[in-house]
Amino acid sequence: MGKNPVVPYILIFALGIGLIFFMSLYGIPQQKEIAGSDDEATEEGSKEESGGKFDAEAVAQQKCITCHGENLEGNVGPSLHGEDKDKDALHEIIKNGKGGMPGGLIEDAHIDDMVDYILSLK
Ligand code: HEC
Repeated sequence: MGKNPVVPYILIFALGIGLIFFMSLYGIPQQKEIAGSDDEATEEGSKEESGGKFDAEAVAQQKCITCHGENLEGNVGPSLHGEDKDKDALHEIIKNGKGGMPGGLIEDAHIDDMVDYILSLK
């Protein structure tokens, strides 16, 4: 047949160029998304600082779901639904952490609100 041995390399090369091109087009809207969510995070932070109402659910969505799952039903960390620990124990865990759970994620003044929120999850 005399098939040219270089052809497969040219195909792979063309595919690679195509992929890079695709990714650079696709990357632009994604960058905007990332920048957008950053803005929201800083807004949320300044709201907290200015003594606005602490929204435990929103903060949990930001700071806890990575480990406790989208609905706080467990992932790396355990489910926070149906907690049977008392308020002090939960307060202690959120303040100081425990095992793989980092402490200091919530300002001290807002820990009780977060505990109430967790205890309100069925
Ligand atoms: C880096 C991952 C990670 C993040 C982020 C995280 N947790 Fe945890 N959390 C864990 C792990 C792991 C445990 C289990 C610790 C253990 O028992 O050793 C845990 C345990 C807990 C417990 C105790 C549950 C129980 O029944 O013993 C509570 C309450 C809790 N986390 C609340 C929160 C809250 C509220 C947030 C957000 C402010 C949060 N966690 C963010 C990993 C995380």
